[in-house]
Amino acid sequence: MKLLGVNIDHIATLRNARGEFFPPLSHAASIVEQAGGDFITIHLREDRRHINDDDLAHLSQTVTTYLNLEMACNEDVLKRAIEHKPFKATLVPERREEVTTEGGLDVVNHFDKIKEYVTALKENNIFVSLFIEPDIKGIDKFMETGADDIEIHTGGYSLATPQQKPVVLKRISEFAQNAQKKGLKICAGHGLTYHNISPICQIKEIEEFNIGYSIIVRSIFSGLKNAVSDMKRLIKEAN
Ligand code: PXP
Repeated sequence: MKLLGVNIDHIATLRNARGEFFPPLSHAASIVEQAGGDFITIHLREDRRHINDDDLAHLSQTVTTYLNLEMACNEDVLKRAIEHKPFKATLVPERREEVTTEGGLDVVNHFDKIKEYVTALKENNIFVSLFIEPDIKGIDKFMETGADDIEIHTGGYSLATPQQKPVVLKRISEFAQNAQKKGLKICAGHGLTYHNISPICQIKEIEEFNIGYSIIVRSIFSGLKNAVSDMKRLIKEAN
């Protein structure tokens, strides 16, 4: 059975828009878990644009499945990870100007730093995943970091045209087969939606998905009608 991790960063973005405490992330995480989400993913960015230190502290106490913390190789974020010990940390590249995580880690050119972070996290009993492009050439270098999992960046797949999709899928599938032969656990995420999830689910080596944006957006459309009619009912009843 493939697992679904739900990224709730965008609920923090909504909360931060008002600078208040509502909606509480722990409530969102609890709904995800009740609905069958297998784990909760959050990204503590260097600029704390959505998830903040208190969210990490609170969610590490309240999540009943497990927490996957996405993080860059940043000293301060590493300190928070070691303090709160999520079950898993996924190392991602991060640029301040980017809107979302734009590419996979360059394990070849940043090997020493990545290995240093993998080692520090593992010494603290945190599983480590690396978010990487499905490039077979990088697998051996990846193995040398000592990380436990690979998360395949599916952004390229999500943006591919219908003509390009079979080629990209084949590349991901071959990469996943190779990585699994080396004993790695394979996860995937970024840009996965209700329209593009099925073909990627056919790749049997992929064991976990991390999905955020499309789920949070869909929750607006599946919930908006009820939200309006609930308010309308209260107004009617008060009259
Ligand atoms: N996996 C990783 C490593 C990510 O950085 C993100 C985006 O935060 C996701 C998965 C989820 O991507 P999306 O929000 O497009 O579903």
